[in-house]
Amino acid sequence: MSGSDPFCMRGQTAWITGASRGIGLACARGFTRHGARVVGFDLEPSDELAAVASETRFVDVADFTRVGVIAHELIRDGFAPDVLVNNAGITRDAVVWKMQEADFDAVIDVSLKGAFNFIRHSIPSMRERGRGSIVNMTSINGLRGKFGQSNYCAAKAGLVGLTKSVAREVGKFGIRVNAVAPGMVETDMTRLLPASVIEAAKNETLLGKLATPDDISNLVLFLASPVAGHITGQVISVDGGQYL
Ligand SMILES: NC(=O)c1ccc[n+]([C@@H]2O[C@H](COP(=O)([O-])OP(=O)(O)OC[C@H]3O[C@@H](n4cnc5c(N)ncnc54)[C@H](O)[C@@H]3O)[C@@H](O)[C@H]2O)c1
Repeated sequence: MSGSDPFCMRGQTAWITGASRGIGLACARGFTRHGARVVGFDLEPSDELAAVASETRFVDVADFTRVGVIAHELIRDGFAPDVLVNNAGITRDAVVWKMQEADFDAVIDVSLKGAFNFIRHSIPSMRERGRGSIVNMTSINGLRGKFGQSNYCAAKAGLVGLTKSVAREVGKFGIRVNAVAPGMVETDMTRLLPASVIEAAKNETLLGKLATPDDISNLVLFLASPVAGHITGQVISVDGGQYL
């Protein structure tokens, strides 16, 4: 990208979780396109991620200790994060009266605690360098609740509180923290939903269509970039008007 690129991320390192496919992969591609070095984290590798990332690490984001070890090694080896995108998330849907304890815990551990783990192990380095931008992937359903998704909505609502609290704590160190709240997006997470559910979500939007992963990564890129240098503690929807 040329010097006239308003979203230029040249010289910056972006850590992105859940980067092997879907929204995380779109973020990895977007950051790379705008000049950043991408470190992609996921449970599993993908050829698509390998094609764009400078580094990849395969780790369960819910594992506090392992995330700490990997973060330490990356920072030591010159890959300290300027940007952190906490994107990894899972669903384990059931109505609350049938939900298994393991399904509640798994969703909270990955989608909420996973973000805490990466924030906890990134902030010291960002504080030292006096800069950083963190983007947490929440959801329309963390804002409004959703039938059959009490675990997921609790995790995503938790991310809103995490975003605002950490933003308050780290603003004075030049670190910004924001959250993105997508409506339904065309990815593997939603592809297997019944056609009626997908149609209902489309009908809820004002634009009559679902988001693509790029629709979401464009907002993540904007929030992470210097163009958004005075935006922090915000939750911004990208949902085609689905929540209006
Ligand atoms: N797809 C949607 O409609 C939608 C809507 C709102 C929010 N979101 C959120 O966006 C994020 C990405 O969603 P997506 O649709 O791209 O999902 P996806 O299932 O297509 O991709 C998720 C990625 O995260 C990885 N991952 C899962 N658990 C992990 C773990 N424990 N450790 C490391 N990596 C792990 C997966 O391997 C996968 O590569 C999620 O947080 C999701 O909740 C998605």
